[in-house]
Amino acid sequence: MNIQERKVGVIGCGFVGASSAFALMQSGLFSEMVLNDADRAKAEGEALDISHGLPFAKPMKIYAGDYDDLMDCSILVITAGAGQKPGETRLDLVKKNVGIFKSIIPEIAKRNYEGILLIVANPVDILTYAAVKLSGFPENRVFGSGTVLDTARLKYLLGEHLSIDNRSVHAFIIGEHGDSEIAAWSSANVSGIPLNDFCELRGHIEHDESMRRIAENVKNSAYEIIEKKKATYYGIAMSVRRICEAIIRDEKSILPVSSMQHGEYGIHDVSLSVPAIVGRGGVERVVSIELSPEEKEALQASADTLKKVIGDAL
Ligand SMILES: NC(=O)c1ccc[n+]([C@@H]2O[C@H](COP(=O)([O-])OP(=O)(O)OC[C@H]3O[C@@H](n4cnc5c(N)ncnc54)[C@H](O)[C@@H]3O)[C@@H](O)[C@H]2O)c1
Repeated sequence: MNIQERKVGVIGCGFVGASSAFALMQSGLFSEMVLNDADRAKAEGEALDISHGLPFAKPMKIYAGDYDDLMDCSILVITAGAGQKPGETRLDLVKKNVGIFKSIIPEIAKRNYEGILLIVANPVDILTYAAVKLSGFPENRVFGSGTVLDTARLKYLLGEHLSIDNRSVHAFIIGEHGDSEIAAWSSANVSGIPLNDFCELRGHIEHDESMRRIAENVKNSAYEIIEKKKATYYGIAMSVRRICEAIIRDEKSILPVSSMQHGEYGIHDVSLSVPAIVGRGGVERVVSIELSPEEKEALQASADTLKKVIGDAL
């Protein structure tokens, strides 16, 4: 089926799917959006509610649909799956959500879908790997939101710490979207100025303490939000919008999405986040950033953690 560039689908319309759909509606990137959920009434309700904002945005068709309606979407955003319960790690979710993916991905694969699968449900790295294997699609077309959200949290916190526009902060969280993620401090900078130099410019000299505190804060953000309001969804919705923008506008933006690894960082046969060029074809290629020996070791450990889960769960 011919892909409609300006048509997007969202599979799973819970907190994350509905918020992402709301953000996508406001983005003006698409002229048509199909919402799909195992609970059809939920998808219909969200489609109606979101449509009522259209007079304040740009014209577009938004409706609930089934797999056949999704097949000419340029991007399918997959958020279907249970969320983390308080105290539960993302990896605890794995068996439940792999089961859900085993019902969704073959439906898409058997219809020879030709667009991009953007995986958002958790554990996102494991589910991206599962989606690649279950679909058999080219790997550039199947990737996860990965640490795009964690990286946004890092930039936000550094922006606050330094009292600076967080968009001027260049820094990545890499590895697993989860407990073994790594703040790649050695390449972090503010508009080209090494991070520690910029910190000193702003009167901060306790570098190790600040880095430890901020990285922990990023890692624990999801737990804290879930404890307080049961789910996280606005930050991820904006991350989904940003990734879709990079694809639809063929921006070739460098984003830390979760993609299949083939040795760029000495890591193979696992999907995790490292900076990658994202454009119309999906993930064009992974790029190598300078990592310290400790960061390299931590990235390898993160890959090993994920591989163990893949071994146990798939
Ligand atoms: N990647 C990230 O950064 C990130 C951030 C936040 C949440 N998440 C993850 O996103 C997922 C969704 O979270 P949520 O809070 O929206 O959960 P939720 O329970 O509110 O929504 C999940 C939705 O999926 C639907 N669903 C289940 N099986 C389905 C199927 N086979 N087909 C279609 N729909 C199906 C459910 O009916 C439900 O509406 C979770 O796995 C969560 O951990 C990821």
